Amino acid sequence: RTAAELSAAIARAIEFNAPEQGTATLGLVPTMGALHSGHESLVSTARAHNDVLVVSIFVNELQFNDAQDFARYPRTLEADVEILARAGADIVFAPQASTVYPDGRPLIKIDSGELGSKFEGASRPGHFDGMLAVVAKLLHFAMPPATLGVPVSYRAYFGQKDAQQLVLINRMVADLNYPVEICSVPIIRSAEGLALSSRNQFLTAEQAKAALVIHRALSLVKERAERHEPLYLEDAAGLFEMEPLVELDYFELVDPRTLQELAFNCQDTPFTGEGLLLVAARVGEVRLIDNMPLGY
Ligand code: PAJ
Repeated sequence: RTAAELSAAIARAIEFNAPEQGTATLGLVPTMGALHSGHESLVSTARAHNDVLVVSIFVNELQFNDAQDFARYPRTLEADVEILARAGADIVFAPQASTVYPDGRPLIKIDSGELGSKFEGASRPGHFDGMLAVVAKLLHFAMPPATLGVPVSYRAYFGQKDAQQLVLINRMVADLNYPVEICSVPIIRSAEGLALSSRNQFLTAEQAKAALVIHRALSLVKERAERHEPLYLEDAAGLFEMEPLVELDYFELVDPRTLQELAFNCQDTPFTGEGLLLVAARVGEVRLIDNMPLGY
């Protein structure tokens, strides 16, 4: 629960699990809990690649721009800890808000800049600043202690599901010289194609079925990209018009590293190179995001 407990547990786990020679490895998987197979994929990847695995569970109020969304966010700590024990996590760090933000809202802020104000940032003002604030802190909380006498390389794992979040975290770590390697893990979907999310449980069966249009639209464009055909994003986006339960917010092709819009969007230009197709849609009260890498 506390920073001191976490540091002591990390020191102990490194002492027991470090290789006899060379560098030990410590992996951190930050989550907000209500764990599903998407989170489990991060956990199993990090488990396979590190001597010590820390998973954090903290529903970070600062990144919720909607108080109601924060209030109803699922909290299932006991079940989460069971899942993590089975998945082989060494340590679960589940701090109270007063541990993460002892002085209430931080006075000094991380500004996610232009990149944080488009796409998801445009409809969720302050979301990415709040997300970066907590990720910056979690990266510090789980930092391997320098006093162990063992060199430790430190990694943190994030899902490609939240593509804009991942790009911003990579930039923060580079811009602020965090001594951590950021590792990304592919999206996990349901058998029908819906990207797993803790918010999917708020969808009715009918809404969940309608939401599959997201994956149909992404797949249509991906198939064209694989055939090096023009992408015609408009008619993929047009699929949404046939699903009245799903309200499309954006459907954009961007550079995977900078999230700058790419111009393949229109005309008859065949697709070459690399792109990332980003989509967000509202289904009832639930906002869904998804994406698809193209050309790599
Ligand atoms: P949360 O939504 O709990 O997600 C935790 C991690 O799991 C994120 O890195 C997210 O991208 C990844 N993830 C979620 N669904 C996934 C899926 N279907 N496939 C692959 N990975 C998936 O993202 C957050 O929490 C928070 O913003 C956090 C980074 C913890 C900061 O509060």
